[in-house]
Amino acid sequence: MPYVSDNSLRDAINKATTDLFTFSYKHIIKPHFVFNNPPDKAHAQMIDFCKVTRNIPPLMWLLRQMLDYTDPILETSVMGVDFANPFGLSAGLDKDCEMATVLDNAGFGFETVGSTTARPCKGNARPWFHRLPEYDSMMVHVGLANEGSDKIIAKTESAWRRTRTMQMSVSIARTNDDLVGDLDEGIEDYCVSMRRAAGRTAMVEVNISCPNTTVGEPFNEDPDALDRLFTALDTIDRPQPTLVKMPLNKTWEEFRDLIDVLAAHNVQGLTIANLQKDRTGLDVPRSWLGGLSGGPCTVESTELIRRVYREYGDRFAIAGVGGVFTPQQAYEKIRAGSSLIMFITSLMYRGPQQITVLKRGLAELLRRDGFSSVAEAVGVDA
Ligand SMILES: Cc1cc2nc3c(=O)[nH]c(=O)nc-3n(C[C@H](O)[C@H](O)[C@H](O)COP(=O)(O)O)c2cc1C
Repeated sequence: MPYVSDNSLRDAINKATTDLFTFSYKHIIKPHFVFNNPPDKAHAQMIDFCKVTRNIPPLMWLLRQMLDYTDPILETSVMGVDFANPFGLSAGLDKDCEMATVLDNAGFGFETVGSTTARPCKGNARPWFHRLPEYDSMMVHVGLANEGSDKIIAKTESAWRRTRTMQMSVSIARTNDDLVGDLDEGIEDYCVSMRRAAGRTAMVEVNISCPNTTVGEPFNEDPDALDRLFTALDTIDRPQPTLVKMPLNKTWEEFRDLIDVLAAHNVQGLTIANLQKDRTGLDVPRSWLGGLSGGPCTVESTELIRRVYREYGDRFAIAGVGGVFTPQQAYEKIRAGSSLIMFITSLMYRGPQQITVLKRGLAELLRRDGFSSVAEAVGVDA
């Protein structure tokens, strides 16, 4: 299939329909069909919408014609995996793997399903979400609700077989329920999911930084605990690369101690970073539990990416995530050291065409600065 960027008619149609989506989402869909509902309900409706539309092939074809911008400059290979573009859905929006067909047709390079856990998990009490539009942010307190990694990984594997170009990753975490025990129990929980995932997805992400569980974050609070976890995970043979989802709120010394541990294990990538816990300067009701996404993550995650890339170079591929709303913000994360970019919140606040806006804009920025690929720009500002 020729690239959209090489065909002036398809390129013009793609650009016009992307602009149309941008306008309709801002003025019609968001105010009248999304933000007029509480966020928990809007999220459930969005998943239901994907479950219905994915079964209507002409609609998926139309979505592809309207949104899927393809361009050779965006193609990239990271950790041995080939991507049509570096943009992916971050873990948490599609916990139970219901969105793959829609995201694939909209032109995502990859998606991260989950986080999923060894046992099915109903998550925290509702509400799970609060909106903070003044900060382009969501307050998230889901607590790892999901159908369990047995089911989810089977769904992810079968979705991966059907996607046209999109790669599938799965995020695994420790079950958040009344049965949690000591550290060994937690390690075995991760190992169960890792055994299930081995060889069945393009990548695996190990989430050690969920801020919303009763058991806390023991594997990022103590490097020895992290070492024990990855010593156990190393015994599980798996062909696909492993990323680790890192926390955002650590001192550099604490962060470095964690990375030094990971550098000695079978870990190829770092996802930087999870939700923002620091509410300083933000007007957020104290009764709202959880971590912040979007705007409050943008600058801090980019700075962390830059520091990690500067100090660890190519030892890890970095997947940058946190408050990416514009092509410029994605480009900054790439120039700071990210090879891949993920997002969720900008999809909710700006609309589904966000994937196309980011891809087009990034291609333009790369060309403007004389790069011939994403990989060439990785880390140039670090
Ligand atoms: C609705 C929602 C659910 C999330 N759930 C998870 C999760 O299950 N696992 C995880 O590693 N991160 C989770 N996150 C964090 C995101 O993956 C991401 O790190 C964070 O939102 C920053 O990216 P953003 O600003 O593009 O949203 C969640 C975020 C949101 C908004």
